[in-house]
Amino acid sequence: MIRFRLNGEAIETDVDPHLPLLHFLRDRGWTGTKEGCAEGECGACAVALVRTGPDGKTRYVPMNACLMLTASVHGEEVVTVEGIAKDPSALHPVQAAMVERGGSQCGYCTPGFVVSMFAEFYRDGRVEGEPDLESIGGNLCRCTGYRPIREALVSLRTPSEADPHQKRLASPALEVPSLRTEHSGVRFDRPTTLAELFDLLEASPDAKLVGGGTDVVVEVNQMDRRFDHLVALDAIGELRGFEETADALVLGAGEPLAFLEEALHGRLPMLDELFPLFSSRLIRNRATFGGNLVNASPIGDGPPALLALDASLVLARKGGERTVPLDGFFSAYRKTQLEPGEIVRSVIVPKPFPDVQRFFKVSKRILDDISTVAAGFALWTDGGLITKARLAYGGVAATPMCAHAAQAALVGKPLDPSALADVVPLLETAFTPIDDHRGSARYRAAMVSQLILKLAHEAHPEAAE
Ligand code: FES
Ligand code: FES
Repeated sequence: MIRFRLNGEAIETDVDPHLPLLHFLRDRGWTGTKEGCAEGECGACAVALVRTGPDGKTRYVPMNACLMLTASVHGEEVVTVEGIAKDPSALHPVQAAMVERGGSQCGYCTPGFVVSMFAEFYRDGRVEGEPDLESIGGNLCRCTGYRPIREALVSLRTPSEADPHQKRLASPALEVPSLRTEHSGVRFDRPTTLAELFDLLEASPDAKLVGGGTDVVVEVNQMDRRFDHLVALDAIGELRGFEETADALVLGAGEPLAFLEEALHGRLPMLDELFPLFSSRLIRNRATFGGNLVNASPIGDGPPALLALDASLVLARKGGERTVPLDGFFSAYRKTQLEPGEIVRSVIVPKPFPDVQRFFKVSKRILDDISTVAAGFALWTDGGLITKARLAYGGVAATPMCAHAAQAALVGKPLDPSALADVVPLLETAFTPIDDHRGSARYRAAMVSQLILKLAHEAHPEAAE
């Protein structure tokens, strides 16, 4: 039986494990939460969960209900737009701000905006008049125009101490219990420890693993994919968080990207550039590096950045672990070195970090889009000479990959634009891009060279003129 709290009400239900939370809500009359795209692009379905943030404090975390399986909120607290105004005779301050500033016309997007703004309203450390505008970056509106919505967000005051939602944040988030449920022959497990997970995988090696669900649930929604056995990884504490040692940053493969982004801000410029381009915050509140790597998409954004940082992966299975370089982890199109029963436990980013690090993404829209080509560039230097180079690309071959010959050619060269430009011929023969609806092979090949020239230009704009 799946149990969770919805707007303060205890819910007990037994549903097909493939049912997204969005449909669960709407099927039961909680129709404030809307469906726009069913793939995480519009934010109309946003709901907030009470979670512990990377700062250890309780917070509201907005997420796309279309990308969450109902069973994956077992033991948690969910707030929908219906639960925001506690006093039925008065609007919540966020709702009032939207009305006063004219932030809604047809209203279809409005509940999603209100939920995202609700989470921002209660964000610890928010300064009045200076909201995090990215907090509504995953919400699209087709008719109002964003200025009045932004003004509503900017106008929000500090919540009062007596505000019941504010009071809730004074206590810890609920401790999530493990879950095993079965419905119509479909099994769903949500273990809370690796030991529990490995026992499950030993008995059921073909179970479909779900990290944040931002990919698997799109398949469920858009391609009607169904699985006999789903295993959610998001409640396993050992896959969460990060650790910094003298030699490396060790990132939990199951830590939501938005939490890593917040905790690591300023530590690795490559990741600071990657995260906002990766996806909207609503998705980053669920998406993980583990999922992005195991997905093995040639156009995933995480791999070029992590390949450039020379990352390794800790792969864990019952009774053991092994560490493998990420360079080589992708064995073929959508294939990895993972063996049955094995998972990505963590991502190791070794020190020293590169002196020059850049992430570039070429896509039709700057934000909230899929890459046509992405590149991560990292250079280590000593006395003005390049001692090590990592040039990694996505979108130009069957897997994300490094340009090894060009990397080797840069070692020992001075860090200047001409040295970077000199490797263009090697880059031109390093990859085999293909045509698709996001870009022709010729366009992708051109981007391979142009991105390294962009790096050269940015490093030394005068010399590259
Ligand atoms: Fe569009 Fe969920 S319905 S993001
Ligand atoms: Fe119509 Fe935003 S008010 S989509």
